[in-house]
Amino acid sequence: MVTDIQAQMDVLPGLDPRAPLLHVDDLHVEFRTRDGVAKAVNGAEFYLNPGETLALLGESGCGKSVTAQAVMGILDTPPAHITGGRVLYRGVDLLRLTEEDRRKVRANRIAMIFQDALSALNPVYSVGFQMAELFRKHRGMSRKDAKQRSIELLDQVRIPAARERINDYPHQFSGGMRQRVMIAMALALDPEVLIADEPTTALDVTVQAQIMGLLAELQRQRNMGLILITHDMGVVADVADRISIMYAGKVVEEAPVHEIYGRPAHPYTKALLESIPRLDLKGRQLNVIPGLPPALTDIPAGCPFRPRCGYARPVCGQQEPPAYRIAQHRIARCHFIREVLGV
Ligand SMILES: Nc1ncnc2c1ncn2[C@@H]1O[C@H](COP(=O)(O)OP(=O)(O)O)[C@@H](O)[C@H]1O
Ligand code: SF4
Ligand SMILES: [Mg+2]
Repeated sequence: MVTDIQAQMDVLPGLDPRAPLLHVDDLHVEFRTRDGVAKAVNGAEFYLNPGETLALLGESGCGKSVTAQAVMGILDTPPAHITGGRVLYRGVDLLRLTEEDRRKVRANRIAMIFQDALSALNPVYSVGFQMAELFRKHRGMSRKDAKQRSIELLDQVRIPAARERINDYPHQFSGGMRQRVMIAMALALDPEVLIADEPTTALDVTVQAQIMGLLAELQRQRNMGLILITHDMGVVADVADRISIMYAGKVVEEAPVHEIYGRPAHPYTKALLESIPRLDLKGRQLNVIPGLPPALTDIPAGCPFRPRCGYARPVCGQQEPPAYRIAQHRIARCHFIREVLGV
């Protein structure tokens, strides 16, 4: 599907068609709670080009969902506070838009799907009604056209017998089918960016693979930018173009997917790769990364990965490593990249 740049210009003035589709620039988000200030996102930085799939990867609690919610403009503030950085959509900083413009972007340009489709869909309305409402509200379609378009979309996400199922309620669908419904709703207004936050985590392995395949296919057909958020390095190898690895609220390594699997540059990436369950090693003990991520209320000086890192030396406790550029599309934040790469 070809995206009409002129139509976007009408949605939001100032968009630059040559700018990256999305650029998260030095984003900081903190939660001020009774237990202190948790620095959930601590200078996160990544970009997304049109038609590209970026995997945002890291252990639970590293700030992936908070980053995604900041991009979408759906963070609860308070307790969350965005204390710095920019979220540029084609060069326009979304953090500075009025709530009305923000809503337009959210509805028409950037969409998101979540792990839990049941809580994202409204339980008291049929799936067809919820979808048709989108077309009626945002596209001014008639009831009949909206219904027809909803059936087409459910067909596209391969819900069998879409025409018959359109009047069913969310709880009448299986977990996998519900996730397909949520994908259909997210795609209803033809977004340029889709953020999928752990979209298959709640599903069993076979269904996971089907949903991942469907997302990859839809991304290609529509030439969308897709941000795939996951804690599971095993699920993204076949679908992502690039990977950004997050640790303690920062991107610690960024690389094209075919380069990172064979040749990680950051000790954390290396440890994540070693923790992927392998079919050929069935029964053998899984290599779990020792230790825990730092408490976000008390991130230590120097490199946040230091307490868990086999490469650490005294300098790591004193100086936080900057982002080193290794190659055109590769960055890593580590003082000892050469050792990790073995060069
Ligand atoms: N509602 C909240 N109140 C306080 N702290 C929160 C809240 N939501 C998230 N956090 C903090 O932000 C951190 C990052 O959360 P999150 O982005 O959900 O992690 P991920 O998606 O990577 O698992 C959490 O470890 C927690 O410290
Ligand atoms: S900077 Fe030091 S502690 Fe941090 S990842 Fe590199 S070697 Fe490990
Ligand atoms: Mg999350």
